[in-house]
Amino acid sequence: MPPMRRLLPWRLATTAVLAAVALAAWTQAHPDDTEAAALAQCRERIAPSAPAIDFDCLRRVYRLPSDQWPVPHVSEGVAWQELAPLPKATPEPAGNPGTPEKIALGRKLFGDPRLSRSGQIACATCHEPELGWSDGRRVSFGHDRQAGRRNAISVAMSAYAQPLFWDGRAASLEEQALHPIQDSREMAFTARQLERRLNRSDDYPAEFAQVFDSKRIDARQVAQALAAYQRSLVPRSNRLDRFLEGNRDLLNDQQLWGLHLFRTHARCMNCHSGPALTDNGFHNLGLHFYGRRRQDLGRYEVTGDPADSGRFRTPSLRGVSRTAPYMHNGLFAHLRGVMNMYNAGMPRPRPTAEQVNDPLYPQPDPLVERLDLHRTELEALTEFMETL
Ligand code: HEC
Ligand code: HEC
Repeated sequence: MPPMRRLLPWRLATTAVLAAVALAAWTQAHPDDTEAAALAQCRERIAPSAPAIDFDCLRRVYRLPSDQWPVPHVSEGVAWQELAPLPKATPEPAGNPGTPEKIALGRKLFGDPRLSRSGQIACATCHEPELGWSDGRRVSFGHDRQAGRRNAISVAMSAYAQPLFWDGRAASLEEQALHPIQDSREMAFTARQLERRLNRSDDYPAEFAQVFDSKRIDARQVAQALAAYQRSLVPRSNRLDRFLEGNRDLLNDQQLWGLHLFRTHARCMNCHSGPALTDNGFHNLGLHFYGRRRQDLGRYEVTGDPADSGRFRTPSLRGVSRTAPYMHNGLFAHLRGVMNMYNAGMPRPRPTAEQVNDPLYPQPDPLVERLDLHRTELEALTEFMETL
C-alpha cells in the first residue's frame, strides 16, 4: 500500500477530533445561541414604556453585569455614570484624616447644644439620626424658633456632596461646619465666642488636646472634628449596594422595574447617577417662586450669574425615603408627589408680562421633560426610591 493510503484513516480521525474540539470551544464561547436570542428578545420586550412589564425578561436582563444593562436614557452631552456600590472607604481630605478619636469628638460636638448661643440648639436638633439625619420639617427652626428658608439636607451623604448646601455656598465639610454655628437664624453664635466657651469648659480642653496637638481649642479644630464625624455617617453596604455587588435577588419585581425606569424612561440618570446618585450639578426644576413671597434663586445668590437663577444642587438620593419633606423648600410631603411632578415635567411657571424681558427670570432645565409614565410605573419608581 502506498504511504498516502495508509495515512488516510488517521487523517480523517484527526480531522474529526479537531472539529469536535473546535465545536466544543465555539459552544463554550457562545453560550447557546438560544439563550442569546432569548436575551435579545427580552431587551426588546422591556424597551417600550408600558403599564405592565415582563418581569422574567426584566430579571434576565438585570442579572447581567451592569455594563450590559440597557443604555440609560440621557440627553446628548450628559456625563452620566452607571449606578455602583459606594466605595468601601469614604474619601477624605489629606489634611483631616478621620481617626476614631476625632470621630468620637465630632460625634459629641454634633450633639452638643453648647455650640449655639442659646445653649439649646445642637447640629443634631436639625439633623436627627432617626429622621434620616434631617429634621422632618418643611423648613428648619433655629435660634429663637425663627423659621429658616430651606429644608434641612440629610448629612449622611455629605461626604459626597461637592460643593455643599442647596446653593453650593460651602466648598468642603470643613468650611461648611462654621456656617450654621454663625447663622443668625440657626445657632446664632460666633467662632470667637464658641472658642471661648469651649476653652473654659470642664471637658473639652483635655478631649481636644488628645486629638489635636495644641493647647488651645480653635474653631478650625471644631470644624475638622465635625467634618470627620459626618464622613463616618455614610451608609455602608445597604440593599442597593448589595444588589449592585451582584446579589440580584435583593430587589423584588416592583423595585427592579423601578430601577429600570429610573435608568431609562423616567430619565432620572440625566442628573442622579453614579454611586452617590447625583451629578453634584445645579438645575432649575421650576420651584423658585420667582417674584413671589417664597422666592429663592438658589445658586444665583452665590455666583451672581443670571444663568444660575433658580438652580439648586442635585441631592444624593441615598436614604431618601427617610428624609421627607422634599426639595430645597420642602414642598412635597411624599415621594409619590415628587414622582407625579417629574411625570408632569415639573411646574413650568411662566413670566408675567413685566417679567418677560427680566434676565433673572429662571430658565427651565432642558433635561426635564414630560414623561407620561403610567400610574403603575410611578408606583414602581416610588418603590425603587424606598431601596436607596
Ligand atoms: C436650625 C437648623 C439647623 C442646625 C442647627 C444645623 N443645620 Fe445643617 N442644615 C440645615 C439646613 C436648613 C440646611 C440646608 C441649608 C441650605 O442649603 O441653604 C443644612 C445643611 C447642612 C449641610 C449640607 C449637606 C449637603 O449635602 O450639602 C451640612 C453638612 C450640615 N447642614 C451640617 C450641620 C452641622 C455640622 C451643624 C452643627 C454645627 C448643623 N448642620 C446645624 C439646618 C440646620
Ligand atoms: C435635570 C436634573 C434632574 C433630573 C432629570 C431629575 N432630578 Fe431629581 N432633583 C434634581 C434637583 C436639582 C433636585 C433639587 C431641586 C430643588 O430642590 O429645587 C432634585 C430633587 C429630587 C428629589 C428630592 C430629594 C430631597 O432630598 O429633597 C427626589 C426624590 C428626586 N429628585 C428624584 C428624582 C427622580 C426619581 C427622577 C427621575 C424621574 C429625577 N429626580 C430626575 C435634579 C434632577
